[in-house]
Amino acid sequence: MTLLDNQFDGRDAPGIKPVRAQGGAPAFFSAWDLHAYYGESYIVQGVRFDVREGEILALLGRNGAGKTSTLRTIARMDNPRLTHGEIWLDHQPLHEMKSYQAARLGVGLVPEDRRIIPGLTVQENLELSQIAEPKGWSIERIYEHFPRLAERRSQEAVTMSGGEQQMLAVARVLARDIKLLLLDEPYEGLAPVIVQEIERILEGVKELGITTIIVEQNAVAALHLADRAVILDMGEVVFDGTAQEVLDNAQLRQEYLAI
Ligand SMILES: Nc1ncnc2c1ncn2[C@@H]1O[C@H](COP(=O)(O)OP(=O)(O)O)[C@@H](O)[C@H]1O
Ligand SMILES: [Mg+2]
Repeated sequence: MTLLDNQFDGRDAPGIKPVRAQGGAPAFFSAWDLHAYYGESYIVQGVRFDVREGEILALLGRNGAGKTSTLRTIARMDNPRLTHGEIWLDHQPLHEMKSYQAARLGVGLVPEDRRIIPGLTVQENLELSQIAEPKGWSIERIYEHFPRLAERRSQEAVTMSGGEQQMLAVARVLARDIKLLLLDEPYEGLAPVIVQEIERILEGVKELGITTIIVEQNAVAALHLADRAVILDMGEVVFDGTAQEVLDNAQLRQEYLAI
């Protein structure tokens, strides 16, 4: 476990350095010393972590810690603007890419607001995500994994419940050929029974070995799903370790997660 105080420069912390596999190959996903701004506001302040292939990483921290900004930086959205650092996915330099190039390479962001397209049915939303190559799961396969979506395939998608829309948002990303799944608060605003249903879906995604970063206020649920956890505070990494270490560390949970 590595717990850094705010004065510490994470650059030389043994637990924070991107893990290098034998032979010097970088991890499947690496964020190296990311700095990003919204206009003049300096928000992402030297974030660094690795994710191994097939691993689920919970990216946690209080409201405003910089979780969404970090995901948006990784997905190469225009805002916040990355000014320094490198992002590598499967040996490809994401930091040199625009969001559409990152998406084509296999970065699948499920944003907090889900972006379900009004006026389209569930099926049409899924078909639309498959217009561009490379395709991922077939629509039949999606319906096997998401039976609720199969039942509602002809329904206008925005008229579904919040939980069903969240399922569609995840399914739509799986309909593309992704290497890295980025989930921003997938359980937000959902009833516990629906959270459990989405947890089961995400456990299924985990079995398929899709490398995932999950941001969640419901830290306990995220930690049960995740292998590892990174905690952000004020745009910096303050913890990088296993999910179990966070669950076992009351002080850490109280200080940064309020759980
Ligand atoms: N579009 C934006 N313009 C300026 N500041 C922003 C913008 N979005 C977020 N911020 C600020 O960046 C910080 C981190 O926000 P965010 O990444 O959304 O945190 P989290 O997802 O951890 O709650 C906050 O202080 C927030 O006010
Ligand atoms: Mg957020």
